[in-house]
Amino acid sequence: MPSGPPKYGAYRVLQLTDLHLRDPSGSTLLGVDTEASFLQTLEYALQEGGPPDLLLLTGDLAEDPSPQCYQRLQAQLQRLPFPSLCIPGNHDDPKVMAQHLLSDEKGIVTQYQLGPWTLIGINSARPNLPSGFIRQDELERLRQIIDQAQGPYALIALHHHPVESGSPWMDRMRLMNAEDLLNVVLASPKGRGLVFGHIHQEMDVSWGSLRLLGTPSTCVQFAPGADAFRLDQKPTGYRWLILKNEGDIDSRVVRAIDLDDQIRFSEREGSAGS
Ligand SMILES: [Fe+2]
Repeated sequence: MPSGPPKYGAYRVLQLTDLHLRDPSGSTLLGVDTEASFLQTLEYALQEGGPPDLLLLTGDLAEDPSPQCYQRLQAQLQRLPFPSLCIPGNHDDPKVMAQHLLSDEKGIVTQYQLGPWTLIGINSARPNLPSGFIRQDELERLRQIIDQAQGPYALIALHHHPVESGSPWMDRMRLMNAEDLLNVVLASPKGRGLVFGHIHQEMDVSWGSLRLLGTPSTCVQFAPGADAFRLDQKPTGYRWLILKNEGDIDSRVVRAIDLDDQIRFSEREGSAGS
């Protein structure tokens, strides 16, 4: 297991994504008990890096978006000694999620202040569609939140990837009006980056002055560069975001390598809506 905490002296955000929790507890997705895999990955992250200032969950929290799934997740989050920010993905039901999880009542935009950093969550999911889209009124609301943010830096969290991942089957499910979002964030000097899930693999690229960071799932992984749906045998993973007082972002993805034998899935034919 890797040792030692991430760099000290800045705000530390732990991102876990694409949990795909199912009903009942213990149910599997492509051979993985997603709830056990999430809990083991979270425990690994806390042992490896210590407690974060904020836990960020970037969508597809539930594969079966039932009240029971979100209530079980809520019970797990409430036992943690740090706050959580949850945003929905394409497999979630934002209304059910907002009723049972820590998020604002509208379930659309949530935010959290970490010193000079404002972390802003956006709902990019559309009902019954795997691709993402952010409505114009939500973009305007985001613009206002960034403008009115207390501190000088803003980090945007959403589910869908705003630039191509290199996997054509995944990129047909990307954020379809990504340029609108990127332009809103770029229009403010506060905008520093976007962090997301959905692709079940790592991404770290730049768009102008913005850092765009995608993160592995806590359950199944997708093979990078695949033309069609294909699983990757890599272990589950997560991302540390170290938000520095000077406005820089240090970030790294960690794979929960010691868990590999416990939660290794049996690769199967099939398709997934990510
Ligand atoms: Fe997913």
